Formats: sequence, structure tokens, C-alpha cells
Amino acid sequence: MIKVPAAREFSALEKNYLFTEVRRKTQKFLTENGGEVINLGIGDVAFPLPPVVVEAMVKATLEMGDNARFKGYPPEGGYPFLKEAIAGRYLKRGVKIDADEIFIGDGAKSDTSSFPDIFGRADVLITDPVYPVYADSSVLRGNRVTFVRGNKQNRFLPSPRGVEKKPYLIFLCSPNNPSGAAYGHDGLKEWVDFALETGSALLFDAAYSAFAGVGVPSSVFEIDGARECCAEFGSFSKSAGFTGLRCSWTVVPKELKCRKSQVSALWKRRQSVKFNGVSYVIQRAAEAALSERGITECGHAVEIYKKNAAAFTAFFKARGIWHTGGELSPYVWIECPKNLSSVEFFNGLLSGCRVVGTPGSGFGKAGEGFFRFSGFATENAAAEAVRRFERSDLFR
Ligand code: MLT
Repeated sequence: MIKVPAAREFSALEKNYLFTEVRRKTQKFLTENGGEVINLGIGDVAFPLPPVVVEAMVKATLEMGDNARFKGYPPEGGYPFLKEAIAGRYLKRGVKIDADEIFIGDGAKSDTSSFPDIFGRADVLITDPVYPVYADSSVLRGNRVTFVRGNKQNRFLPSPRGVEKKPYLIFLCSPNNPSGAAYGHDGLKEWVDFALETGSALLFDAAYSAFAGVGVPSSVFEIDGARECCAEFGSFSKSAGFTGLRCSWTVVPKELKCRKSQVSALWKRRQSVKFNGVSYVIQRAAEAALSERGITECGHAVEIYKKNAAAFTAFFKARGIWHTGGELSPYVWIECPKNLSSVEFFNGLLSGCRVVGTPGSGFGKAGEGFFRFSGFATENAAAEAVRRFERSDLFR
């Protein structure tokens, strides 16, 4: 046995990561009862990669087997062709980002959980309910965490009003995981203004920006002042089906400074110590996803996920069940009917409908009594889930 102790921060975490626990319970149910379930739990994509992405990977793989075109370590921070393509994506949305402000990563989970490494000890400010990664990684790092609670009154879009004014590392995700709610321009501006006033860094997770529609900023850099206080994380996972490939980006504007240091220089230095980049093949695949053909092909799946979420929303509306999300987000967040706790509702849904969702309590204290459905499913699976809801006593 080794005599080095485990990091004591682990004792402050739940035993299992939220989605590991949901999978464990689902597998136990299937072992005991047999048959199948419809999975509307973890937001994993339901369709294979679009042809344009597969073709780009095949081409890049052949290059890697060719003496003249083989490539070793990728450039720090990513290949220029992909950074240019991402800068072009921003420009189409009216946001000017330079390619050298973009850093390629292997997923928004790694990027959001690693980015705070570059700062000294600071309090972390997080909305609750929350994607567990921001909270768990802060606990592991030993940061003190302050929560701003979402609830029915603020429609799960809490504002920083009333929060003690001091410098924080703030995590914000919009369209939000798990609540599916999305800040409008004014709501997001309140957060940017709070960060500017308090000298905080606002770490904006835009992993679901492909779902944002009219009236909802798809980037924090649409807000005045954001370049002085924000970094933004983008992902190919949900927009292009890359959950199994892994590719993401971080935008660190030149204006973002931490005392005398350029934050982008710190991030570059941190990544050069702990990360060796995303493979050439995957970066070519990501570039293809941003081409004209890629946007069309990837858009088909996004449209289906949106329609699924809209179908769930229509059902909950018809039954008078309080809900948010589902319009500008793949997630629908409901208040559990019949005053059930999140876990009681999870169990009832699994045994009664054979549908898996995610208990709101897994996303934080403010999620207790609420439940998340993911629209990441085929149309048939989503339609069958709605038929099962219609037959179930749970929603009466
Ligand atoms: C979720 O279901 O919340 C996400 O799929 C998890 C993730 O993106 O890591």
C-alpha cells in the first residue's frame, strides 16, 4: 500500500459523477427487469457523424500514413486552418475574434475545468442548478464556491443582484445546462457588468450556442465590455456530433489581463505543460463541420434535437406542468409532478415508462424537485417517449 494520502478534496465530492450514477441505476434496472429503456438522460448525440466530417477524417488519416504529408505534434493551441474556420464562424454572427485568440481543446469539459488553473486562489461563483463539472472541479482545486440560486421566480436565470461584490471566477452557461433557459442580451449584460465592476473573470460556456435562436446571444462577446472580463468555451460535441471525437475551443481576448499578465499567455503556458493538443485528423474533421456543407449536414441533427425538445415541451404544457427550456436548448427542465422529489420521479419514470432522465437534484440543491429531459434522441425514440408519458399516471 502506498503511504501518500489521497487529495482530501475528494471527500467533499459525491461518490459518483452524476451521469455515472444515472448509468449505474439504469443498468441495475435493466439487469433486474430486462428489456430496453429510452435514454433522455445524458446529453449524448443520437446520430452518426455527418458524411462531410467522415470524409475529412478519411482524407486526413491517409495523409498521416503518407511520408510526405505525415504530421507529428500539432502546433500549440491548434492548427491555423481550424482557428481561422472558428473565427469565420464568429464573424458570420457579427462577432470579430482573431484566430490567435482561439485555442483548440479536447472538449468543453476539460477546458472549463482546467481554465481556472491559471488563476490564484479565488472564490468561484456558480449558478445553481449547474453542470456538475464547474462545481466539482472547483472543489477539487480547493476553491470556495458561492452559489446563486435559480428558481421558478427567476425562471432559472439568476442575476448577480445582491451578490457580495468581490473578484470571483464566475461560470455561466447559456443556453443553460441543465435548465435549458437562455439569457437575453440584458440578462447577460448584467453578468458582464458585474464582472467588470468586481474585477471578476466571467467564464462563459457556449457549448449549446447552436441551439440559441433570435433574441438570445450565442456568444458573450456580443455584449459590450466582455472582451475585458470574459473567456468563452465552444464545443463541437452537441453541434456536430463530436461527443466521441472530442474537439472544442477557448476564446481568450487580447484585452483580458490579470494584473500584468496576458491571460491568453497564461493559458498557452498551462496547456503546453499539461496538454499536447488535439490530433490533426480530428481538427480536420472539425474544420469540415464548419464548412458550408458541414453547417447544412450538422444542422439536420440539431433541428431534430430541437423538435424533440419542442415535442416534450408541448406535452408538459398541455398537462399544465411547469417547465423551462426546450425552445432555445436541447434540454427541457420540469417541476416534478405530484410533489415528487427528483429521485422519486426518476425511479417512477424508469419503472413506469422505461424512460431515463436526469434528477434535478444531481445538478445542485436548487434542482431538488425538478427534472431534466434531453432532446438528444432520434425522432422515433422521442415520439415513443411522449406516447409513454401520455399513458402514464405520473403526469395526471
Ligand atoms: C450533459 O448531459 O449534461 C452533458 O452531456 C454532459 C457533458 O457535456 O459532459
